[in-house]
Amino acid sequence: MKNFKNKVVAITGAGSGIGKATAIEFAKHGAKLAVNDYKIENLAELIAELKRMGIAYYAEAFDVSDKNAMEQFAENVKKNLGSTDVIMNNAGIAPMGANFLNEPIEYFEKMMNINFWGVVYGTRSFTPQLLENNKEAAIINISSLFGLVGNHGHVSYASAKFAVRGFNESIAFELHKTNVTVHSVHPGGIKTNIGLVANDGTKMNLELGDKFHSAYLKTTPETMAKSIIKGVQKKKFRIVDGERALEAYIGILLLPFNMIKKIMIKDSYKKGLKEVMEKDLFIKAK
Ligand SMILES: NC(=O)c1ccc[n+]([C@@H]2O[C@H](COP(=O)([O-])OP(=O)(O)OC[C@H]3O[C@@H](n4cnc5c(N)ncnc54)[C@H](O)[C@@H]3O)[C@@H](O)[C@H]2O)c1
Repeated sequence: MKNFKNKVVAITGAGSGIGKATAIEFAKHGAKLAVNDYKIENLAELIAELKRMGIAYYAEAFDVSDKNAMEQFAENVKKNLGSTDVIMNNAGIAPMGANFLNEPIEYFEKMMNINFWGVVYGTRSFTPQLLENNKEAAIINISSLFGLVGNHGHVSYASAKFAVRGFNESIAFELHKTNVTVHSVHPGGIKTNIGLVANDGTKMNLELGDKFHSAYLKTTPETMAKSIIKGVQKKKFRIVDGERALEAYIGILLLPFNMIKKIMIKDSYKKGLKEVMEKDLFIKAK
């Protein structure tokens, strides 16, 4: 899909970071935008920008882990803007910065509900519109660098992101004979709000979060947004960009896991994360 003029692009989690930057980038290409976030106030800045640009838009606040709300959103987008051409399932939460035994299992479940099931519901609700009239259309599902390799403190996150990757690869097989392209996006460290805010007040390990963020979240969301759009235009299945993403991806393809693990741990230590990483290592929180 090369041209987005007057195409209907739906993006979840568009209130911040990669989702917001990609919405603005699509708007610059002349697309109509359907945007979602958890709370309507999260979308205020984006809506103001779309209005300023004179872009047709539709905005709806709901939690992407609510299956019925997602189905309703897809119907509402069609009613308000027309049949959807691009769905980008982007909404996601960060790991809370705890090791596996310290992360409440409820948070793990929530992680799967938002970061995995949110993607499944979005893809399922919008794909019938994408398939209409055999038009050119695209599914953009955001996984992560941690959908390619695991990491310390990322057990639930990597589980959800690996699941998204498997989902993306499998639907790409099923849609092979259609005009719908599937794009599995694996950003490295992108400088966004992820991990600094938990949308429901979940207590995050801000010490690890802050250190991890300042060490690795370097690439701007605008750079990632441009890379996503270019990837869609080039029909690239895997879109890998952002701090550490490409080198990690090449490493994963070429090296045995134990070697990658060693390199990543050494790198985290060099970044000053050793102490905070080892603090709650497999000690059950009281
Ligand atoms: N920032 C990174 O380094 C990075 C790296 C790899 C992958 N990602 C992925 O990119 C996506 C976007 O993250 P970001 O870095 O832009 O973070 P962000 O926090 O800046 O933006 C995420 C947006 O999603 C919204 N959101 C969260 N839960 C939601 C829910 N249940 N329903 C609806 N909206 C919800 C948030 O309110 C927020 O506006 C996520 O899936 C994330 O896992 C980010």
